[in-house]
Amino acid sequence: MNSEQNHIHPEFDRQISRESKEKLLGQKGLVIWLYGISGSGKSTIANAAEKVLHKQGRMTTILDGDNLRTGVNENLGFSDDDRRENIRRAAHVARIFAQQGIITFVSVITPRHELRDLARDIIGDDYYEVFVNASYALCERRDVKGLYAKAAVGEIKNFTGKDSAFEQPISPDLVIETENQSVEDSVFALLEAIRPAISA
Ligand code: ADX
Repeated sequence: MNSEQNHIHPEFDRQISRESKEKLLGQKGLVIWLYGISGSGKSTIANAAEKVLHKQGRMTTILDGDNLRTGVNENLGFSDDDRRENIRRAAHVARIFAQQGIITFVSVITPRHELRDLARDIIGDDYYEVFVNASYALCERRDVKGLYAKAAVGEIKNFTGKDSAFEQPISPDLVIETENQSVEDSVFALLEAIRPAISA
């Protein structure tokens, strides 16, 4: 905390409570933190899961790494420090959404243990960690955004899984293996897993 922050006085008491908002929505807020290498299927799963929940009358949102990086995080690159700041901001924004009772999907690579710990520390009990797993070789074959081809010829530096590490998770709440599972099956597994946490 810097000295200027001594003069900041956050207040929450006069705001409408989380409980009132959750009652209005008929659901509980949660952050579903989807992480894994580029092309592993994070955003595909988040988008498909959101559609199902929306049909069920649930209020949701998605914070996607690429989208955040064109707005609130547009000044950040892919150094270790910038990725940390990227995660810190994403986690704080997600926390705010969850506190309004909104089911919040976050889709960001989050390549290191330290970054996942940071997100968990910021979000607290609302943090539900989902590792979306697919091998580098498969993601390179999928190459949805053409980034793997560019990384292979050295056009992208600090590319996750190549010259910037992706640390294999130790104990996520859920692992989704997209290599040999359909999107529908992945989404079903995810929604079953979070159902108790989002039910009013
Ligand atoms: S994170 O490491 O800070 O969590 P984030 O999920 O926000 O990453 O952004 C990753 C997205 O940025 C990828 O989906 C990809 O489209 C794009 N990207 C651009 N450069 C890189 C890079 N060097 N490594 C990984 N992804 C990159």
